[in-house]
Amino acid sequence: MRLDRYLSQVTELSRSESRQMIRAGRVSVDGLAIAQPAHQVDSRAQIHLDERLLDRPMPRYYMVNKPAGVVCATRDPSHRTILELLGLSRPKTLHIAGRLDIDATGLVLVTDDGQWSHRITSPGRSCGKTYLVTLKYPLQEAQAATLRQGVSLRNENKPTRPAELHQLGETQLTLTITEGRYHQVKRMFAAVGNRVVGLHRQAIGPLTLDECLSAGDYRVLTQNEIDSF
Ligand code: URA
Repeated sequence: MRLDRYLSQVTELSRSESRQMIRAGRVSVDGLAIAQPAHQVDSRAQIHLDERLLDRPMPRYYMVNKPAGVVCATRDPSHRTILELLGLSRPKTLHIAGRLDIDATGLVLVTDDGQWSHRITSPGRSCGKTYLVTLKYPLQEAQAATLRQGVSLRNENKPTRPAELHQLGETQLTLTITEGRYHQVKRMFAAVGNRVVGLHRQAIGPLTLDECLSAGDYRVLTQNEIDSF
């Protein structure tokens, strides 16, 4: 990571203030004064600002019960973002590991550990995501069979990977998919002539949304939960 970026992440300094400090010779890396903001530092480097040793903050991991109406984006001109909802310090360092649509609810993971979130979102990893789906029209057996096998989405050549589908009622079911295509669940049901009217994510891989979290609440993940990916 660049030294100016590192400094702005672990202190209250902005990126441009960090650059000024570095150019002024006030920052040292492993005992050597470094005046280049672009200097690359790794996780083992000992970095001082004047006499102060800067601690790299521990990575952060949260599960959020996303309410409807909030967007999974870092910035949005007209809607509240999930990061604004959390109100955590240093929000610029956080990102979302697997977005949900504005009208969808349920489990969202937020972290500043890019390698960890890559394990969740990378298409090659096939991490399952389970949704509680409410439909406008009763689910037909033929529709369910097509969705389980894989369905061709509009404007895409490759069919979806096989999905797990458990019917709970005429218009309610759980669906587990291992991909994260754009609006995937809604488009899968549209492709078989049905329509999603409610979408709630219950689980991502081995992690299930904590029942104690009301819509809009969040909590820190336990070490076991972090390690489960
Ligand atoms: N599929 C969708 O259509 N929307 C989501 O938010 C998540 C999966």
